[in-house]
Amino acid sequence: MMFRGALARLAAQYFVLLVLILGCFDFIVYFTVSQALQARVDNYLQKSVVEADHVLTVTGDTINATQLILDPSYADTFMQVLQLSGNQVVMPSPTLQNLFKNPALNPALARAKAGAHSETEVMAGQQLFVVDTSAIRNPKTHKVVGVLQVAQPISWVNDSLSRLTRQLVLASVVGIVLGALASLVMALRSLRPISRAFQRQREFVADASHELRTPLTLIRTNVEAWLRRASGPNKAYARNIIDEVEQLNRIVGDLTTLALADAKQLPIERQPLELNAMVRDLMTQAEPLAQERGVDLRPELNGGVRVEADPTRVRQLLLILMDNALRHTPSGGLVSVGVVRENGHARITVTDSGEGIPAADLPHIFERFYRADKARNRENGGSGLGLAIAKWIVDAHRGDIAVKSAEGKGTEVEVNLPAMS
Ligand SMILES: Nc1ncnc2c1ncn2[C@@H]1O[C@H](COP(=O)(O)OP(=O)(O)O)[C@@H](O)[C@H]1O
Ligand SMILES: [Mg+2]
Repeated sequence: MMFRGALARLAAQYFVLLVLILGCFDFIVYFTVSQALQARVDNYLQKSVVEADHVLTVTGDTINATQLILDPSYADTFMQVLQLSGNQVVMPSPTLQNLFKNPALNPALARAKAGAHSETEVMAGQQLFVVDTSAIRNPKTHKVVGVLQVAQPISWVNDSLSRLTRQLVLASVVGIVLGALASLVMALRSLRPISRAFQRQREFVADASHELRTPLTLIRTNVEAWLRRASGPNKAYARNIIDEVEQLNRIVGDLTTLALADAKQLPIERQPLELNAMVRDLMTQAEPLAQERGVDLRPELNGGVRVEADPTRVRQLLLILMDNALRHTPSGGLVSVGVVRENGHARITVTDSGEGIPAADLPHIFERFYRADKARNRENGGSGLGLAIAKWIVDAHRGDIAVKSAEGKGTEVEVNLPAMS
Protein backbone atom coordinates (compact mmCIF):
# COMPACT_ATOMS: atom_id res chain seq x y z
CA MET A 1 0.00 0.00 0.00
CA MET A 2 1.13 3.51 -0.75
CA PHE A 3 1.03 6.15 1.97
CA ARG A 4 2.70 3.90 4.49
CA GLY A 5 4.07 6.94 6.29
CA ALA A 6 0.71 8.70 6.35
CA LEU A 7 -0.98 5.52 7.53
CA ALA A 8 1.45 5.08 10.39
CA ARG A 9 1.11 8.74 11.38
CA LEU A 10 -2.69 8.67 11.27
CA ALA A 11 -2.87 5.41 13.21
CA ALA A 12 -0.41 6.78 15.76
CA GLN A 13 -2.54 9.90 16.18
CA TYR A 14 -5.70 7.88 16.70
CA PHE A 15 -3.81 5.70 19.14
CA VAL A 16 -2.38 8.59 21.16
CA LEU A 17 -5.85 10.11 21.34
CA LEU A 18 -7.25 6.85 22.59
CA VAL A 19 -4.55 6.41 25.21
CA LEU A 20 -5.13 9.98 26.40
CA ILE A 21 -8.87 9.37 26.71
CA LEU A 22 -8.28 6.10 28.56
CA GLY A 23 -5.74 7.78 30.82
CA CYS A 24 -8.16 10.62 31.66
CA PHE A 25 -10.91 8.12 32.29
CA ASP A 26 -8.71 6.04 34.62
CA PHE A 27 -7.59 9.14 36.45
CA ILE A 28 -11.15 10.42 36.94
CA VAL A 29 -12.41 7.05 38.16
CA TYR A 30 -9.52 6.61 40.57
CA PHE A 31 -9.71 10.17 41.84
CA THR A 32 -13.48 10.07 42.38
CA VAL A 33 -13.44 6.73 44.16
CA SER A 34 -10.52 7.60 46.41
CA GLN A 35 -12.11 10.93 47.31
CA ALA A 36 -15.39 9.23 48.13
CA LEU A 37 -13.69 6.61 50.30
CA GLN A 38 -11.62 9.20 52.11
CA ALA A 39 -14.69 11.31 52.77
CA ARG A 40 -16.50 8.30 54.09
CA VAL A 41 -13.66 7.40 56.46
CA ASP A 42 -13.50 10.96 57.80
CA ASN A 43 -17.22 11.18 58.21
CA TYR A 44 -17.45 7.86 60.02
CA LEU A 45 -14.63 8.70 62.40
CA GLN A 46 -16.13 12.08 63.27
CA LYS A 47 -19.49 10.47 63.99
CA SER A 48 -17.86 7.91 66.26
CA VAL A 49 -16.00 10.61 68.16
CA VAL A 50 -19.22 12.55 68.70
CA GLU A 51 -21.00 9.38 69.81
CA ALA A 52 -18.22 8.49 72.25
CA ASP A 53 -18.30 12.00 73.65
CA HIS A 54 -21.99 11.61 74.41
CA VAL A 55 -21.54 8.59 76.63
CA LEU A 56 -18.83 10.19 78.72
CA THR A 57 -19.73 12.37 81.67
CA VAL A 58 -17.29 14.48 83.55
CA THR A 59 -17.67 15.47 87.18
CA GLY A 60 -14.76 17.40 88.62
CA ASP A 61 -11.66 15.58 87.47
CA THR A 62 -13.42 12.24 87.07
CA ILE A 63 -14.65 10.75 83.84
CA ASN A 64 -17.47 8.23 83.83
CA ALA A 65 -18.69 6.13 81.00
CA THR A 66 -22.37 5.43 80.89
CA GLN A 67 -24.01 2.17 79.96
CA LEU A 68 -23.00 1.70 76.32
CA ILE A 69 -19.28 1.35 76.37
CA LEU A 70 -18.56 -1.36 78.78
CA ASP A 71 -17.28 -3.09 75.74
CA PRO A 72 -15.13 -0.37 74.27
CA SER A 73 -15.48 -1.55 70.74
CA TYR A 74 -18.58 -1.51 68.70
CA ALA A 75 -18.64 -2.33 65.07
CA ASP A 76 -15.24 -1.37 63.74
CA THR A 77 -14.63 1.45 66.12
CA PHE A 78 -12.26 1.07 69.06
CA MET A 79 -11.76 3.51 71.80
CA GLN A 80 -9.74 4.24 74.89
CA VAL A 81 -10.28 6.89 77.47
CA LEU A 82 -7.33 8.05 79.55
CA GLN A 83 -7.99 9.91 82.72
CA LEU A 84 -5.30 12.37 83.66
CA SER A 85 -5.85 11.78 87.34
CA GLY A 86 -5.84 8.06 87.79
CA ASN A 87 -6.82 5.03 85.82
CA GLN A 88 -8.13 4.36 82.42
CA VAL A 89 -11.87 4.53 82.31
CA VAL A 90 -12.41 2.53 79.22
CA MET A 91 -9.92 -0.19 78.43
CA PRO A 92 -9.64 -1.53 74.97
CA SER A 93 -9.59 -5.29 74.52
CA PRO A 94 -6.09 -6.73 75.02
CA THR A 95 -5.52 -7.30 71.31
CA LEU A 96 -5.93 -3.63 70.73
CA GLN A 97 -3.78 -2.48 73.62
CA ASN A 98 -0.89 -2.56 71.18
CA LEU A 99 -2.68 -0.18 68.90
CA PHE A 100 -3.05 2.51 71.54
CA LYS A 101 0.42 1.87 72.96
CA ASN A 102 2.07 2.66 69.67
CA PRO A 103 4.72 5.34 70.35
CA ALA A 104 3.66 7.10 67.18
CA LEU A 105 0.65 8.30 69.19
CA ASN A 106 2.71 10.00 71.89
CA PRO A 107 2.88 13.40 70.20
CA ALA A 108 -0.86 13.26 69.64
CA LEU A 109 -1.39 12.46 73.34
CA ALA A 110 0.78 15.34 74.39
CA ARG A 111 -1.14 17.66 72.08
CA ALA A 112 -4.47 16.41 73.41
CA LYS A 113 -3.36 17.09 76.99
CA ALA A 114 -2.65 20.63 75.85
CA GLY A 115 -6.16 20.78 74.47
CA ALA A 116 -5.47 20.20 70.78
CA HIS A 117 -7.00 17.57 68.54
CA SER A 118 -5.22 15.38 65.98
CA GLU A 119 -5.56 12.39 63.71
CA THR A 120 -2.75 9.84 63.38
CA GLU A 121 -2.33 6.77 61.20
CA VAL A 122 -0.96 3.76 63.08
CA MET A 123 -0.21 0.16 62.14
CA ALA A 124 -1.44 -2.60 64.43
CA GLY A 125 -1.00 -6.20 63.38
CA GLN A 126 -1.60 -6.20 59.65
CA GLN A 127 -4.11 -3.39 59.84
CA LEU A 128 -3.76 0.33 59.35
CA PHE A 129 -5.81 2.44 61.73
CA VAL A 130 -6.60 6.09 61.93
CA VAL A 131 -6.70 7.31 65.51
CA ASP A 132 -8.51 10.46 66.52
CA THR A 133 -6.99 11.87 69.70
CA SER A 134 -8.86 14.65 71.48
CA ALA A 135 -9.10 16.23 74.90
CA ILE A 136 -11.91 15.54 77.36
CA ARG A 137 -12.79 18.65 79.32
CA ASN A 138 -14.83 19.43 82.31
CA PRO A 139 -17.84 21.17 80.74
CA LYS A 140 -17.94 23.81 83.47
CA THR A 141 -14.29 24.64 84.10
CA HIS A 142 -13.13 23.69 80.58
CA LYS A 143 -10.16 22.06 82.23
CA VAL A 144 -8.66 19.10 80.36
CA VAL A 145 -9.33 16.03 82.50
CA GLY A 146 -8.60 13.21 80.08
CA VAL A 147 -7.91 12.03 76.58
CA LEU A 148 -10.32 10.27 74.25
CA GLN A 149 -8.83 8.08 71.54
CA VAL A 150 -11.05 6.65 68.85
CA ALA A 151 -9.54 4.27 66.28
CA GLN A 152 -10.93 2.91 63.05
CA PRO A 153 -9.31 0.48 60.63
CA ILE A 154 -8.64 2.03 57.23
CA SER A 155 -6.68 -0.72 55.51
CA TRP A 156 -9.75 -1.50 53.48
CA VAL A 157 -9.48 1.89 51.78
CA ASN A 158 -6.05 1.15 50.41
CA ASP A 159 -7.07 -2.44 49.67
CA SER A 160 -10.07 -1.26 47.68
CA LEU A 161 -7.99 1.32 45.89
CA SER A 162 -5.29 -1.14 44.91
CA ARG A 163 -7.93 -3.58 43.71
CA LEU A 164 -9.46 -0.75 41.69
CA THR A 165 -6.04 0.15 40.29
CA ARG A 166 -5.40 -3.43 39.27
CA GLN A 167 -8.75 -3.59 37.50
CA LEU A 168 -8.24 -0.26 35.80
CA VAL A 169 -4.77 -1.32 34.59
CA LEU A 170 -6.12 -4.60 33.28
CA ALA A 171 -9.03 -2.89 31.53
CA SER A 172 -6.70 -0.26 30.12
CA VAL A 173 -4.27 -2.84 28.76
CA VAL A 174 -7.15 -4.61 27.02
CA GLY A 175 -8.40 -1.22 25.84
CA ILE A 176 -4.97 -0.26 24.50
CA VAL A 177 -4.53 -3.52 22.59
CA LEU A 178 -8.01 -3.29 21.09
CA GLY A 179 -7.46 0.43 20.53
CA ALA A 180 -4.23 -0.17 18.62
CA LEU A 181 -6.09 -2.52 16.29
CA ALA A 182 -9.01 -0.12 15.96
CA SER A 183 -6.60 2.77 15.24
CA LEU A 184 -5.00 0.82 12.44
CA VAL A 185 -8.34 -0.19 10.95
CA MET A 186 -9.68 3.37 11.19
CA ALA A 187 -6.54 4.81 9.60
CA LEU A 188 -6.69 2.24 6.81
CA ARG A 189 -10.31 3.05 6.13
CA SER A 190 -9.82 6.79 6.06
CA LEU A 191 -6.83 6.52 3.74
CA ARG A 192 -8.21 3.96 1.33
CA PRO A 193 -10.20 6.36 -0.91
CA ILE A 194 -7.33 8.87 -1.02
CA SER A 195 -4.88 6.13 -1.83
CA ARG A 196 -7.11 4.86 -4.63
CA ALA A 197 -7.53 8.32 -6.12
CA PHE A 198 -3.78 8.82 -5.98
CA GLN A 199 -3.07 5.56 -7.72
CA ARG A 200 -5.57 6.44 -10.47
CA GLN A 201 -3.95 9.81 -10.86
CA ARG A 202 -0.51 8.27 -11.20
CA GLU A 203 -1.69 5.77 -13.73
CA PHE A 204 -3.31 8.59 -15.65
CA VAL A 205 -0.07 10.56 -15.81
CA ALA A 206 1.85 7.46 -16.82
CA ASP A 207 -0.66 6.70 -19.60
CA ALA A 208 -0.79 10.30 -20.74
CA SER A 209 2.97 10.68 -21.03
CA HIS A 210 3.18 7.37 -22.78
CA GLU A 211 0.51 8.41 -25.28
CA LEU A 212 2.50 11.54 -26.13
CA ARG A 213 5.46 9.59 -27.41
CA THR A 214 3.94 8.27 -30.62
CA PRO A 215 2.79 11.62 -32.04
CA LEU A 216 6.17 13.11 -31.06
CA THR A 217 8.00 10.43 -32.98
CA LEU A 218 5.73 11.04 -35.97
CA ILE A 219 6.35 14.79 -35.86
CA ARG A 220 10.05 14.14 -35.72
CA THR A 221 10.12 11.77 -38.69
CA ASN A 222 8.05 14.21 -40.74
CA VAL A 223 10.16 17.23 -39.91
CA GLU A 224 13.31 15.28 -40.71
CA ALA A 225 11.86 14.40 -44.10
CA TRP A 226 11.03 18.07 -44.57
CA LEU A 227 14.53 19.13 -43.49
CA ARG A 228 16.11 16.92 -46.15
CA ARG A 229 14.17 18.73 -48.88
CA ALA A 230 14.10 22.20 -47.36
CA SER A 231 16.28 25.03 -48.49
CA GLY A 232 16.89 28.60 -47.33
CA PRO A 233 15.09 29.72 -44.14
CA ASN A 234 12.96 26.54 -44.14
CA LYS A 235 16.04 24.57 -43.15
CA ALA A 236 16.45 26.72 -40.02
CA TYR A 237 12.76 26.34 -39.16
CA ALA A 238 12.95 22.61 -39.54
CA ARG A 239 16.05 22.45 -37.34
CA ASN A 240 14.36 24.53 -34.68
CA ILE A 241 11.37 22.24 -34.67
CA ILE A 242 13.59 19.19 -34.39
CA ASP A 243 15.42 20.77 -31.43
CA GLU A 244 12.15 21.53 -29.69
CA VAL A 245 10.77 18.08 -30.41
CA GLU A 246 13.93 16.56 -28.97
CA GLN A 247 13.58 18.61 -25.82
CA LEU A 248 9.90 17.68 -25.57
CA ASN A 249 10.82 14.05 -26.10
CA ARG A 250 13.32 14.21 -23.24
CA ILE A 251 10.78 15.76 -20.91
CA VAL A 252 8.10 13.26 -21.86
CA GLY A 253 10.59 10.42 -21.41
CA ASP A 254 11.58 11.67 -17.93
CA LEU A 255 7.96 12.27 -17.04
CA THR A 256 7.04 8.76 -18.11
CA THR A 257 9.86 7.33 -16.02
CA LEU A 258 8.71 9.22 -12.92
CA ALA A 259 5.03 8.48 -13.46
CA LEU A 260 5.72 4.78 -13.93
CA ALA A 261 7.97 4.80 -10.87
CA ASP A 262 5.22 6.47 -8.84
CA ALA A 263 2.65 3.96 -10.04
CA LYS A 264 5.08 1.19 -9.04
CA GLN A 265 5.14 -0.03 -12.61
CA LEU A 266 8.87 0.22 -13.10
CA PRO A 267 10.38 -2.91 -11.63
CA ILE A 268 13.95 -2.80 -10.37
CA GLU A 269 15.73 -5.81 -11.78
CA ARG A 270 18.75 -6.42 -9.62
CA GLN A 271 21.82 -8.26 -10.66
CA PRO A 272 25.48 -8.21 -9.61
CA LEU A 273 27.10 -5.22 -11.18
CA GLU A 274 30.71 -4.06 -11.36
CA LEU A 275 30.61 -0.30 -10.92
CA ASN A 276 34.12 0.46 -12.17
CA ALA A 277 33.45 -1.20 -15.48
CA MET A 278 30.22 0.67 -15.94
CA VAL A 279 31.79 4.05 -15.07
CA ARG A 280 34.69 3.43 -17.45
CA ASP A 281 32.24 2.53 -20.19
CA LEU A 282 30.15 5.66 -19.64
CA MET A 283 33.24 7.85 -19.51
CA THR A 284 34.27 6.64 -22.94
CA GLN A 285 30.83 7.51 -24.22
CA ALA A 286 30.83 10.95 -22.67
CA GLU A 287 34.37 11.80 -23.78
CA PRO A 288 33.34 13.40 -27.12
CA LEU A 289 30.83 15.68 -25.33
CA ALA A 290 33.46 16.61 -22.74
CA GLN A 291 35.98 17.43 -25.45
CA GLU A 292 33.44 19.51 -27.30
CA ARG A 293 32.86 21.52 -24.13
CA GLY A 294 36.57 21.74 -23.33
CA VAL A 295 36.14 19.93 -20.02
CA ASP A 296 38.62 17.41 -18.65
CA LEU A 297 36.79 14.20 -17.75
CA ARG A 298 38.69 12.08 -15.26
CA PRO A 299 37.95 8.70 -13.68
CA GLU A 300 39.05 8.00 -10.09
CA LEU A 301 38.56 4.31 -9.68
CA ASN A 302 39.97 2.40 -6.72
CA GLY A 303 39.85 -1.37 -6.93
CA GLY A 304 36.49 -2.82 -7.76
CA VAL A 305 33.12 -2.51 -6.08
CA ARG A 306 30.19 -4.71 -6.85
CA VAL A 307 26.61 -3.82 -6.11
CA GLU A 308 23.37 -5.69 -6.52
CA ALA A 309 21.49 -3.30 -8.76
CA ASP A 310 19.52 -2.72 -11.93
CA PRO A 311 22.13 -1.91 -14.61
CA THR A 312 19.72 0.18 -16.68
CA ARG A 313 18.87 2.36 -13.70
CA VAL A 314 22.43 2.73 -12.42
CA ARG A 315 23.54 3.72 -15.90
CA GLN A 316 20.70 6.25 -16.04
CA LEU A 317 21.73 7.59 -12.63
CA LEU A 318 25.37 8.01 -13.66
CA LEU A 319 24.33 9.66 -16.92
CA ILE A 320 22.12 12.16 -15.12
CA LEU A 321 24.94 13.11 -12.74
CA MET A 322 27.63 13.28 -15.43
CA ASP A 323 25.31 15.22 -17.73
CA ASN A 324 24.66 17.79 -14.99
CA ALA A 325 28.35 18.10 -14.17
CA LEU A 326 29.34 18.56 -17.83
CA ARG A 327 26.50 21.01 -18.52
CA HIS A 328 27.35 23.25 -15.61
CA THR A 329 31.13 23.28 -16.01
CA PRO A 330 32.64 25.88 -18.30
CA SER A 331 35.46 25.19 -20.72
CA GLY A 332 38.78 24.50 -18.99
CA GLY A 333 37.05 22.88 -16.01
CA LEU A 334 37.33 19.40 -14.59
CA VAL A 335 34.76 16.68 -14.02
CA SER A 336 35.79 13.56 -12.15
CA VAL A 337 33.84 10.42 -11.38
CA GLY A 338 35.07 8.34 -8.47
CA VAL A 339 34.10 4.92 -7.19
CA VAL A 340 35.32 3.62 -3.82
CA ARG A 341 34.30 0.99 -1.39
CA GLU A 342 33.80 2.22 2.14
CA ASN A 343 32.44 0.24 5.09
CA GLY A 344 29.99 -1.88 3.21
CA HIS A 345 29.02 0.81 0.75
CA ALA A 346 29.89 1.62 -2.79
CA ARG A 347 30.44 5.34 -2.92
CA ILE A 348 30.11 7.08 -6.26
CA THR A 349 31.19 10.72 -6.42
CA VAL A 350 30.68 13.02 -9.36
CA THR A 351 32.68 16.21 -8.82
CA ASP A 352 32.92 19.22 -11.05
CA SER A 353 34.74 22.54 -10.92
CA GLY A 354 31.78 24.35 -12.44
CA GLU A 355 29.46 27.17 -11.50
CA GLY A 356 28.06 25.50 -8.37
CA ILE A 357 24.55 25.75 -6.99
CA PRO A 358 23.36 28.75 -4.93
CA ALA A 359 22.76 27.77 -1.31
CA ALA A 360 19.14 28.87 -1.56
CA ASP A 361 18.50 26.39 -4.38
CA LEU A 362 20.37 23.48 -2.84
CA PRO A 363 17.46 22.15 -0.73
CA HIS A 364 15.18 22.07 -3.80
CA ILE A 365 17.25 20.54 -6.57
CA PHE A 366 15.74 17.08 -6.10
CA GLU A 367 12.24 18.46 -6.62
CA ARG A 368 10.53 17.83 -9.92
CA PHE A 369 10.92 20.56 -12.53
CA TYR A 370 13.18 22.55 -10.22
CA ARG A 371 15.91 24.41 -12.04
CA ALA A 372 18.28 26.71 -10.22
CA ASP A 373 18.80 29.07 -13.11
CA LYS A 374 15.64 28.79 -15.15
CA ALA A 375 16.66 30.92 -18.12
CA ARG A 376 20.03 29.31 -18.68
CA ASN A 377 18.87 25.78 -18.01
CA ARG A 378 16.09 26.09 -20.50
CA GLU A 379 18.59 26.63 -23.30
CA ASN A 380 20.81 23.96 -21.76
CA GLY A 381 18.02 21.52 -22.50
CA GLY A 382 17.31 20.78 -18.85
CA SER A 383 13.79 20.21 -17.59
CA GLY A 384 14.52 19.84 -13.90
CA LEU A 385 13.56 16.17 -13.75
CA GLY A 386 17.05 14.65 -13.81
CA LEU A 387 17.83 14.75 -10.11
CA ALA A 388 14.27 13.71 -9.21
CA ILE A 389 14.83 10.55 -11.24
CA ALA A 390 18.30 10.13 -9.71
CA LYS A 391 16.77 10.29 -6.24
CA TRP A 392 14.14 7.73 -7.13
CA ILE A 393 16.81 5.34 -8.48
CA VAL A 394 18.98 5.73 -5.38
CA ASP A 395 15.99 5.24 -3.05
CA ALA A 396 14.83 2.19 -4.97
CA HIS A 397 18.27 0.68 -4.33
CA ARG A 398 18.16 1.61 -0.63
CA GLY A 399 21.01 4.04 -1.00
CA ASP A 400 21.38 7.74 -0.36
CA ILE A 401 22.38 10.75 -2.38
CA ALA A 402 23.75 14.07 -1.18
CA VAL A 403 24.94 17.21 -2.92
CA LYS A 404 27.60 19.61 -1.70
CA SER A 405 28.16 22.76 -3.66
CA ALA A 406 29.93 26.08 -3.45
CA GLU A 407 28.81 28.77 -5.83
CA GLY A 408 31.54 29.56 -8.34
CA LYS A 409 33.73 26.70 -7.11
CA GLY A 410 31.97 23.52 -8.03
CA THR A 411 29.64 20.74 -7.02
CA GLU A 412 30.07 17.29 -5.58
CA VAL A 413 27.33 14.69 -5.75
CA GLU A 414 27.84 11.67 -3.52
CA VAL A 415 25.83 8.47 -3.93
CA ASN A 416 26.08 5.56 -1.52
CA LEU A 417 24.74 2.17 -2.50
CA PRO A 418 24.90 -1.01 -0.41
CA ALA A 419 27.88 -2.98 -1.71
CA MET A 420 28.03 -6.72 -2.26
CA SER A 421 30.46 -8.54 -0.02
N1 LIG B 1 26.68 19.78 -11.20
C1 LIG B 1 25.87 20.86 -11.10
N2 LIG B 1 26.37 22.11 -11.08
C2 LIG B 1 25.55 23.16 -10.98
N3 LIG B 1 24.21 23.10 -10.89
C3 LIG B 1 23.65 21.87 -10.90
C4 LIG B 1 24.44 20.69 -11.00
N4 LIG B 1 23.61 19.63 -10.96
C5 LIG B 1 22.35 20.13 -10.85
N5 LIG B 1 22.37 21.47 -10.82
C6 LIG B 1 21.23 22.37 -10.66
O1 LIG B 1 20.13 21.58 -10.23
C7 LIG B 1 19.04 21.75 -11.10
C8 LIG B 1 18.27 20.45 -11.21
O2 LIG B 1 19.02 19.47 -11.90
P1 LIG B 1 18.27 18.37 -12.74
O3 LIG B 1 17.21 17.80 -11.87
O4 LIG B 1 19.26 17.46 -13.33
O5 LIG B 1 17.53 19.22 -13.83
P2 LIG B 1 18.04 19.75 -15.23
O6 LIG B 1 19.45 19.27 -15.40
O7 LIG B 1 17.11 19.11 -16.19
O8 LIG B 1 17.92 21.22 -15.18
C9 LIG B 1 19.64 22.19 -12.39
O9 LIG B 1 18.74 22.96 -13.13
C10 LIG B 1 20.83 22.99 -11.96
O10 LIG B 1 20.43 24.29 -11.69
MG1 LIG C 1 20.04 17.38 -15.33
